[in-house]
Amino acid sequence: MFELPEDVQQIQQLARDYARKEILPGSQARDHAHAFPAAIVAELAGMGFMGMMVPEAYGGAGLSTLAYVVALEEICYADASVGVTMSVNNSLVCWPILANGTEAQKQAFLPDLASGRKLGCYALTEPDAGSDAGAQRTRATLDGDAYVLNGSKIWITNAPYAQVCVAYANLAPEERHKGVCAFIIDTASPGFRVGKLEDKLGITSSATSELIFENLRVPRANLLGAERRGFGIAMATLDGGRIGIAAQALGIAQRSFDLAVAHARQRMAFGKPIAANQAIQWMIADMATRIESARLLTWRAAITKDGSDTARASHYCSMAKLAASETANFCADKALQIHGGYGYSKEYEVERLFRDARITTLYEGTSEIQRIVISRNYLG
Ligand code: CAA
Repeated sequence: MFELPEDVQQIQQLARDYARKEILPGSQARDHAHAFPAAIVAELAGMGFMGMMVPEAYGGAGLSTLAYVVALEEICYADASVGVTMSVNNSLVCWPILANGTEAQKQAFLPDLASGRKLGCYALTEPDAGSDAGAQRTRATLDGDAYVLNGSKIWITNAPYAQVCVAYANLAPEERHKGVCAFIIDTASPGFRVGKLEDKLGITSSATSELIFENLRVPRANLLGAERRGFGIAMATLDGGRIGIAAQALGIAQRSFDLAVAHARQRMAFGKPIAANQAIQWMIADMATRIESARLLTWRAAITKDGSDTARASHYCSMAKLAASETANFCADKALQIHGGYGYSKEYEVERLFRDARITTLYEGTSEIQRIVISRNYLG
């Protein structure tokens, strides 16, 4: 498939028009002020973009993963901070509830998450459980009709603004991932606390913080999936999350590319536009080729994710994330180089893109973790 289906093209156009008119103009100011884009998130929800793959029966847009990644790329072209806020709600919160939730859980949580009445966060990472996600230490103990959670999570996107948290805790830390359970938590519950806010290099207008659970009682009815099956849920959820980050990276890469081309055409040096130099032409060619390759891989991952072969989908999701995130960093770096000293100034968008690109090879699994997932499929 080399062209998008017509209905997906329409979603792409809708996202592109909105992103370039309503999101792009304020992206620099929000970045400098570290201002959370609450009003934009509300508008995205109104457009159906906060629960894109949630069926209409649960208040979502009922669209495909392909439509989602295409729309998300457009949003991230304008502002990757807005994009990650949207991506976490869709991929990391709505999806696991849809895929693993009971009917009552789906009805209780999905309509609010998809409509923007509530925002979600996903709490897996801990101070000592990052790439080694199976080393979960946040403790869950069963006490009557509730699980009691104690522990802390870090780097949690959306956490300060979230009303719903999909979180992981361990019933038996000595059994590593085999004790992990997934929970849906109402963040207004006593014992749920937002800790230190992260002051980040990039995506500064997205909100990231620590979470602390102190004798947090989670009703048994809020266990997501079966007891001790939480790690598989976390991993399957991250497959979808990784295509979301691939889409985010593509948006950053494409914006970097467009700004680099525009600058190369108009910037004069030695009596001619710098675009007349082969050194610049090669950079532009490499950027374009890598973007196109990563985009095709991301679309392939999205289409596979909508199918029934989950192992194959996981493989392509990691490939897409690896390719697109490395491409975003490559393109943002080259765009900055083409801008010369201007690119190093906060007045220019490429400076923000360079910082925003950096997270994409880190979160939702580093490039090294993606290579582990991919190589295991060949080497066992
Ligand atoms: N889908 C479903 N189940 C899966 C799976 C998948 N994609 N991948 C693994 N599993 C299951 C396995 O089948 C296995 O199940 P059993 O115990 O029943 O056999 C179990 O999970 C353990 O699998 P592994 O032995 O492969 O586990 P591991 O300890 O070797 O770890 C890993 C594998 C790939 C390194 C994993 O730990 C990993 O992905 N680490 C990175 C974590 C990560 O991406 N964190 C991002 C945090 S979220 C974030 O960034 C959020 C944000 O706010 C933006």
